[in-house]
Amino acid sequence: MASKSTIRSEHDPLPFGTNPLFLEHCFSPAITIAAGPVNKAYIKTFGCQMNEQDSAQMLSLLSQAGYEKTVDPFDAGLVLLNTCSIREKAVHKLYSDLGRLRPLKDEDPDLVIAVAGCVAEQEKAKLQQRFPYLDLVFGPDHIRHLPQMLSEVKEERRKGQEGEAKAKRVLRTGFEKRQDFEFVNVLPKEEETPAKAFVNIQKGCDNICSFCIVPFVRGREVSRPHQEIIDEINGLVERGVQEVMLLGQNVNSYGLKNTGDITFAELLQEVADKTKLKRLRFTTSHPKDVKDDLIDQFANNPILLPQFHLPFQSGSDRILKLMRRQYTREQYMHIVNELKRRVPDIRFSTDIIVGFPTETDDDFEQTLTLMKEVGFDSSFSFIYSPRPYTSAVKIEDDVPQKVKAKRLQVLQDLDREICFEKNKAEVGRVEDVLIEDIYEQSENTLKGRTPHNKIVHFDAPGRTIGQIVPVKITKANPYSLFGEFAA
Ligand code: 5AD
Ligand code: SF4
Repeated sequence: MASKSTIRSEHDPLPFGTNPLFLEHCFSPAITIAAGPVNKAYIKTFGCQMNEQDSAQMLSLLSQAGYEKTVDPFDAGLVLLNTCSIREKAVHKLYSDLGRLRPLKDEDPDLVIAVAGCVAEQEKAKLQQRFPYLDLVFGPDHIRHLPQMLSEVKEERRKGQEGEAKAKRVLRTGFEKRQDFEFVNVLPKEEETPAKAFVNIQKGCDNICSFCIVPFVRGREVSRPHQEIIDEINGLVERGVQEVMLLGQNVNSYGLKNTGDITFAELLQEVADKTKLKRLRFTTSHPKDVKDDLIDQFANNPILLPQFHLPFQSGSDRILKLMRRQYTREQYMHIVNELKRRVPDIRFSTDIIVGFPTETDDDFEQTLTLMKEVGFDSSFSFIYSPRPYTSAVKIEDDVPQKVKAKRLQVLQDLDREICFEKNKAEVGRVEDVLIEDIYEQSENTLKGRTPHNKIVHFDAPGRTIGQIVPVKITKANPYSLFGEFAA
């Protein structure tokens, strides 16, 4: 028989000893979950940083419900796959993982298998039709109800086992009304505090990029009240977090839509003024919403790091129009040049799509020239993938798959060349590096990041994760640097 563990309301006494996560998150109403004596949860995350952060929220809620995290699905009572549907490849990866989970379920009928995230929202009930052993399917808007959903799964099972009724699969998709959406606070356990953390400031997206499924699987844009953000950052800083990455699909439009709250530039200023955070970053930005006040922040905010991820997607105005990106190449270059003028030490990274329907050699050439003109320190490039619900699927795609693959190769070769040149220019500089990881086995035992978000491997006896130390860059690879402790 499974034992019972309980999630209680704010005013209940501590049910799980002194778990700091529980203290921070006890806002759910009283719910009883039949978890094993120490029920273990395994979460696999596909996709972007937003998904990573969603998984962190789920772990946080599960911890309150008495679950322990495990990295071994064979050791878990709950296997949860948090999915990505931005490109078709990610969806195929999920399907193959789900196929591999079947024998686990056959062996242990008590195992709960759940699919969360963007594919859950995209496929809805079809997912459970295709994989009938899925106990729970829920979209990104339903994360905060995870404990309730798990108790429903167990209740349905009980009904099925006791012959009361046929056990139903639990499915929660669709979106909450803007005004009803609530963000989940995430504070790591004190002993697991990382050097840097993500903080959600927004969910969903109101843009209309013709290739992108995000607005359909993550819903309308909702900004998180700024005081909640400041409180979460203060909590993280108290635990030792040095660097925060603010997260949203289009952070530049923070506060403009629903809250009547402060603007994004004002939020950056508040973080500098009202917290003791050392290093601040954000992602991701849409060029159409980058205004002078954000450029001013890069120039004046003492904790905002001089690195800007600004996806351009294509260098051709014709393709940008078909993508419905709402800016031109000239407008994009204006932002870049203005920032280079005001903040000479700034570095850029970007996202690019190649092989968008109708893309010609000339359009692609314009993407290459934009790459060179900006001189990105890193880029993420993808072959266009047609996605359900999006308007680009209606454009006839006359670009052969082979041509798309070739263009991606050419682009990535150019990217490697530019990144290598940029990294070589770092040699000799002394950078403040935030230590993120220790590798006991290797010669350079520490891994950290410069303010420009570049990975550096180095050695500094006695130094550890979470410290910011001066490092002289001594050697460059295309995608990483090596250095010496420079105290
Ligand atoms: N096909 C290929 N790449 C895509 N992206 C978004 N949608 C698609 C798609 N349908 C890329 C964009 C975006 C990044 C997160 O993923 O470059 O900025
Ligand atoms: Fe997708 Fe465009 Fe929204 Fe980014 S801004 S999430 S690319 S619709």
